[in-house]
Amino acid sequence: MGMKRASRSAEFTFEEVTRLQYANPEFVEAFRRLRGDRPRPHEARWLRRLLAVARSRRQMLGLRETQPPLILDAGTGYGRDLAWLKAQPGVRAFGVDSSLAMLQAGRRALGLDSGALVQMDIRRLGLREASIDAVRAQALFHHLTRRAADAALGELVRVLKPGGLLYLFVRYGTQEGFVNESGLGPRYFRYFTITSLRTLIRRHGLREIEYERLRARPHLPSLVLLAEKLPLSRC
Ligand SMILES: C[S@@+](CC[C@H](N)C(=O)[O-])C[C@H]1O[C@@H](n2cnc3c(N)ncnc32)[C@H](O)[C@@H]1O
Repeated sequence: MGMKRASRSAEFTFEEVTRLQYANPEFVEAFRRLRGDRPRPHEARWLRRLLAVARSRRQMLGLRETQPPLILDAGTGYGRDLAWLKAQPGVRAFGVDSSLAMLQAGRRALGLDSGALVQMDIRRLGLREASIDAVRAQALFHHLTRRAADAALGELVRVLKPGGLLYLFVRYGTQEGFVNESGLGPRYFRYFTITSLRTLIRRHGLREIEYERLRARPHLPSLVLLAEKLPLSRC
């Protein structure tokens, strides 16, 4: 009897490898042990900065909205930083991630409920256009291929309100491929330079507000960039 020819390639794409890794409960536990239950000092500093800019922007725009700003933590993982955000007064926040194992870990360990941690692929967000005041994407974009990063950023721009903020944290460098960072085993990374990060945001009509080359952990150089959606940004 002849063998059936496989209808598609048996090779995994980078996206599939990432999805399978973050779906593995053992990997998720190792990741959670490494990341801990609260943001590191430089991460907390940038969380506070994001909140301060979001608040002053609403004041500047004279927005008299009754609701506090709504923040989306994109690729939230087990929601460690989401828990920090939700503990701040005058903030509404929720997180999305494609990994159910990550979200379940956050529900178990941090007591976050299913309204706070939602399973979604960042490239296809089931969220209304112009409904979010600020998006935070910590350690997400450096795991996306160029095509996935464009699809993801397109979605984030669509859901951001005009004048809304985007915070990106990525690893700094020029490497693309599997890297064994922090002893978690090889994962797919596509590092960014400030030039490649600026090129990405400009392609989506975002305007840079500020950036920082982080050296808090010298063996893991990283970049933070804060940008805004202009009133006429592409959706
Ligand atoms: C390195 S973790 C960062 C988690 C968290 N932001 C943090 O700083 O601890 C990357 C996260 O991105 C998620 N992710 C990767 N690709 C995604 C996609 N296409 N849609 C949604 N989440 C994705 C993974 O499941 C994982 O939880």
